[in-house]
Amino acid sequence: MIFWRVKPLDQILENAEKKSLKRQLGPVQLTLLGIGAIIGTGIFVLTAEAAQKAGPGMMVAFVIAAIVCALAALAYAELASMVPVSGSAYTYTYAVLGEALAWIVGWALILEYAVAAGAVAVGWSGYVNGLLISADMALPEFLRTGPFDGGGFNLLAFVVSLVITGLLVVGTSKSAWVNAVLVTIKIVALCAFVYVAVPAAQSPNFEPFLPTGWGSPMGGVGVLGAAASIFFAYVGFDAVSTAAEETKNPNRNIPIGLIGSLGVCTIFYLLVGYGAVGADGAQPVFDSAGKLLEPGSDALSKACEGSNALVCSKEPLAHVLRMLGFEKLGNLIGMAASLALPSVILMMIYGQTRIFFVMSRDGLLPASFSKVHPKFHTPHIITIVTGIAVSLFAAMFPVGILADVSNSGTLFAFVMVAVGVLILRKTQPDRPRPFRTPMAWVICPLAILGCILLFVNLSMKTLIVFAVWAVIGLVFYYVYGKHHSHLARSDQSGGAVAQPASTR
Ligand code: ALA
Repeated sequence: MIFWRVKPLDQILENAEKKSLKRQLGPVQLTLLGIGAIIGTGIFVLTAEAAQKAGPGMMVAFVIAAIVCALAALAYAELASMVPVSGSAYTYTYAVLGEALAWIVGWALILEYAVAAGAVAVGWSGYVNGLLISADMALPEFLRTGPFDGGGFNLLAFVVSLVITGLLVVGTSKSAWVNAVLVTIKIVALCAFVYVAVPAAQSPNFEPFLPTGWGSPMGGVGVLGAAASIFFAYVGFDAVSTAAEETKNPNRNIPIGLIGSLGVCTIFYLLVGYGAVGADGAQPVFDSAGKLLEPGSDALSKACEGSNALVCSKEPLAHVLRMLGFEKLGNLIGMAASLALPSVILMMIYGQTRIFFVMSRDGLLPASFSKVHPKFHTPHIITIVTGIAVSLFAAMFPVGILADVSNSGTLFAFVMVAVGVLILRKTQPDRPRPFRTPMAWVICPLAILGCILLFVNLSMKTLIVFAVWAVIGLVFYYVYGKHHSHLARSDQSGGAVAQPASTR
């Protein structure tokens, strides 16, 4: 299957020339879009979940996830600069590994982007509900969390996703401007946190450092389990590459946007992780039999009642500051998160719509998905469809589960990208590469191994969701995409577009 019906790179580049999204993003805007997509629920909310899985060892989890992402980013940057068109891992896989795998990657990217957008919306609602409660304006409990999260309908997460969808329909440049303001707020909030929490760190809070050990495959706990979850905090840098078709001078600007945004975020995370653990302690909660309680479980919620532990907080960064006696600053951080997390939802929905857009342009999804609005120049139909789907996930599921499921799709896509870099180095060594992955034969295999390591350390439940999703995707492909693919049609009409990758 992997040598089947590839879409030649030249054809991809040629199609992109004809298409109609406006090139309007520069390097600074792109790096800001990257940071906007990266810093979010992962650091503001999932820090507590990572602490429950690994205790202070979550700091090591942050480092492991950062290394895996850096390796994957180097691979991404090579392909993104060689094929500066929308569609990210989906497009690259189409060019290298063939249509069926490209479809599966596109399908997995739905987990990455759309499900992640839902996760961030839920994380956001946690902070806003907290603020509403402290202002005596709490929503009824039934409307604070979804039915799979101990509530009925997460109203705030639902509404925020719809509002952002509206922004994206109106236009990228306006949305990107809003994004720049929100990114600034996030960075100021994290700086304030680091400024207060890091000097307050105390050595006893780091003991025991690895209360749950390193973890085991499919266990979803320990340092590796926490790394597999906190990986979510770094997801989003690749959303930069999905904006390639709307970027000025993409050959230079895409690698700058990818690596620049990832670097800035990594520095912040390490400082925030150190500050949170050092200032407040981060020991997990066990049951009376000494068994670790699963994050997001009812048992943990019960054990957390009345507790001040970091792992029990839905707003961990605000919580740390309040525990240090900085009540007002804690509330301000809560407000900053509430204002800023929507920029991540925006980038995630944006990335998703651009991938759908390209898949539709390739004939693998209905043509109406790639219609561009005459006035706003945005793919409005697919934006609206995506936004409604995201709002519904967000209204129903808990943040941790959505984040882990999103990670499974992302890790899969990253493996495909790194494999693609290596195959293209062999099959098309002379094609210009404005950005070359340094030591590709070391970096890419390490990226693949790192992604697999994190993937297998997700929980069993998450891996089952991923497998079921992949099977549904394959059925969809064989029923629809395979027959409507433009590449298949040009094959049948005698067009000389498809060649097996093995001969290229
Ligand atoms: N990295 C993004 C976040 O942490 C998805 O929310």
